Amino acid sequence: MNTPLGEIGPGQFLAEYWQKKPCLVRQAFPGFKPLVNGDDLAGLACEEMAEARLVRGSFEAADWRLEHGPFNKDTFRQLPENCWTLLVQDVEKHYAPLQELVHQFSFIPDWRLDDLMISFAATGGSVGPHFDQYDVFLLQAEGKRRWRIAVDYDPELLPDCPLNVLRSFTAEHEWVLEPGDMLYLPPGVAHHGVALEPGMTWSIGARAPSAADLLQGLGEWLAFSADEGGRYSDPGLQPASRAGEIDRQTLQDLQEMMRSKLDDTDSLHPFLAAFMSRFRLANEPASPPDVTNMVDVAAALMNGATLMRNPWTRLTWFEVPGGARLFSTGQPYDCSVELAEALCGHIYPRIDPNVLDEVSLEVITRLVNTGQLLIEMNQR
Ligand code: SIN
Ligand code: CO
Repeated sequence: MNTPLGEIGPGQFLAEYWQKKPCLVRQAFPGFKPLVNGDDLAGLACEEMAEARLVRGSFEAADWRLEHGPFNKDTFRQLPENCWTLLVQDVEKHYAPLQELVHQFSFIPDWRLDDLMISFAATGGSVGPHFDQYDVFLLQAEGKRRWRIAVDYDPELLPDCPLNVLRSFTAEHEWVLEPGDMLYLPPGVAHHGVALEPGMTWSIGARAPSAADLLQGLGEWLAFSADEGGRYSDPGLQPASRAGEIDRQTLQDLQEMMRSKLDDTDSLHPFLAAFMSRFRLANEPASPPDVTNMVDVAAALMNGATLMRNPWTRLTWFEVPGGARLFSTGQPYDCSVELAEALCGHIYPRIDPNVLDEVSLEVITRLVNTGQLLIEMNQR
């Protein structure tokens, strides 16, 4: 498969740059033609479902203003000529064909990939110098944008500012990106992009949970189990001697109780895979009103229907004896490794109905009935 890494192959990119240092790839996408334009983005930013932001201001004037969508047509009619940026998250989930683009980054495991955020900036538009917690591939889709970056910088943020903007910023490198060029930045590298002319930057972002995210998720997961993961007990309690004291042995016992949850691989691994299949997902597929059954699904597939993964479905899986445990937006399914791979491999999973076993058909039917998979009757 072609990767957007130019001369650098995935192996070299991961070994030398991933999470280590910035990487500029000129013409990562030669002759790049964006499938959506600024008007499409503005239209999407008016939708209730979309997560959109409008940033106005400049680093020089330190006059930042942030508004959250949904917006309306008047918002865009009233915008000044310069110095604004419209940003929309999860665009590949709203425009499913854009999933093909994200798919080109699948040298990174799917569970690490987050979304395609598109920003449209007027000349001078910027979100200010800042740093992110995530890896990002900044693909210039239209127009020219100048990116300045710094690895060593003062992390202090501008006070009383609605955005996370650095108070001061001195660039170590700068590049002007043109359509098709791409800049990879690992977490923590400060960057400042300024549009030299109206245009779009498409950001393919990675996702990485913090320990706080995981432990909070684990807490919520345990809270839903019948016994809440067990409860502290102290049948050997001795009379308390010093007011307010929680003694070291008790702290040790509480820590041990927590550790026993973390050491329970059989339940922790399913939790982690389920957690990652929902982490940072802004929406979840809704169940369709009509429930179908295995016979109808099999008949539809035999008649040439195709399956489409709901763009808001997120899948993870790991191998278990005899097959795979698949998690679709938090829910577990046992199936074959082949089915797990087929469902994850493409937004239109290639399933041969002639070799479909009963377990696979049942999993597909359950995924259809929960809205995770859609059946398209017309042949593509
Ligand atoms: C932008 O597209 O203007 C901002 C993207 C980023 O800095 O991560
Ligand atoms: Co950024």
